[in-house]
Order: sequence, then structure tokens, then C-alpha cells
Amino acid sequence: MIKFENVSVRFGSGITALNTVSFEIDTNDFVFLVGPSGAGKTTILKLILKQLEAAQGTILVDDLNITSNRFHDIETLRRRIGVIFQDFKILPDKNIFENIALSLKIQHISNAEIRNNVEEVLHLVGLPNKTLLFPSQLSAGELQRIAIARAIIGNRDIILADEPTGNLDPKTSWEIMKIFKKLEKKKTIVFATHNTDIVNSMRRRVFVMKDGHLVKDSKKGGYDI
Ligand SMILES: Nc1ncnc2c1ncn2[C@@H]1O[C@H](COP(=O)(O)OP(=O)(O)O)[C@@H](O)[C@H]1O
Ligand SMILES: [Mg+2]
Repeated sequence: MIKFENVSVRFGSGITALNTVSFEIDTNDFVFLVGPSGAGKTTILKLILKQLEAAQGTILVDDLNITSNRFHDIETLRRRIGVIFQDFKILPDKNIFENIALSLKIQHISNAEIRNNVEEVLHLVGLPNKTLLFPSQLSAGELQRIAIARAIIGNRDIILADEPTGNLDPKTSWEIMKIFKKLEKKKTIVFATHNTDIVNSMRRRVFVMKDGHLVKDSKKGGYDI
């Protein structure tokens, strides 16, 4: 469960990036976050990751109040969350295996277990074993599959996607959405996007953002702003 209660974010020079936003996303729910550039979508994702601080309001992740002064365990919070970006953010000087395994490596998990985990997530994203290749040898669609594999490894239960199909053609975008459809049964997913076709076809819950406000929350919505 992810719950925002009257959350506001302000930047210097008087910008209100988020203005008293409230919502509740149930465990294993799927939500599209739509709205024009600058509406506050990325700000919401960064707050959940605690990469940004709210100026006011409360954010709960399950029973954890991550905006409380007493909350300090950011590492444990982030180990539950996988993030997927428009530009993939795959490390160019590491091979595919190393890219996917990175978060497990720093947790001192055994090599055998890491190999099993990498195999499992590669299977889930539908990629043949290309683990020894480097990112420059893969297509954009393959790189986004790798990024999804990296985001879900280690049984993360929350997936935040920030315009993940923004650099992909329509056919590849739909292949990526098929993976999200598989994931949504077991994960809470917040998916920021401009892709009207995908939002209108999927008919999931839609939050419409505008100028830092949550202006609409529809159960099986489309992309109308
Ligand atoms: N680090 C920052 N400093 C100042 N303003 C920022 C910063 N990050 C975002 N903003 C502003 O906050 C607003 C919301 O941005 P953002 O959440 O990135 O929008 P979106 O992801 O919907 O395009 C915009 O007006 C943006 O310019
Ligand atoms: Mg953004």
C-alpha cells in the first residue's frame, strides 16, 4: 500500500511541484500517472523512493511512515522498490549479467544464488541468455527488458516506472507492456507515461496530474486531460 496524505513539494524560486496531493494505492494495484511535462509525475515517484522530501504531508508505505522524522532506514525501503526509466540507465561498462545482479552483489548474496536469480528474472522478461554481452550490443527494447529484470530482482514488491516506453516504437512498447501485465499480479506498480494508446487500451486506474495537482482518479480510465 502506498498512501499520500496532503503531500506538497516546493522547490526554491517558488515552484510548487506538488500541491496537497492525496491518494491510496492498494498492494498489487496498477496505476498510470499521466499529465503534461512538469505536472509532478516524477516528483511523486521520487518521494516514494525518498529521493525528495515533502514540504508537508504524510507518505505511508504499508505501515511505514517514510515522512516521519523517526524514519531512517532508507536502504531497506529502497530494497523493496524497483525503478525503470525512459533512458534505461543501464551501466555501459558492465555486461548484462553485472547490470542485473548489481543490487544483489552489494547485499553479499552468494554467487550461486545470484546466478539463479538472474536466470529467473531474464526468463520473466522473456530474454534469451545474453548475459555476457554489453549494453551497446543490444536493441532499445532489449535494454528496457534488462532494466525491468534489474528492477524486479530480489523480489521487490513495488515497481516505479518513469515513462518506460518513451524511447521505444509502438510494437516494442507493447512487448514491454506484456511484461508489466505479467508483473502486476504480484507487484504494486506506478507507471508514469505520455503514451495515450497504452493508457486507453489497458483500462487500469489512472491518476491525472496537472500543475502539481491530482485532478482526476479514475478506476478504469483512459488518457483524457
Ligand atoms: N530539482 C528541481 N528544482 C526545481 N524545480 C524542479 C526540480 N525538479 C522538478 N522541478 C519542477 O517541479 C515540477 C514538477 O516536475 P516533475 O515532477 O519532474 O514533472 P513531470 O515528471 O510530470 O514532467 C516542474 O515544474 C519542474 O520544473
Ligand atoms: Mg517526469
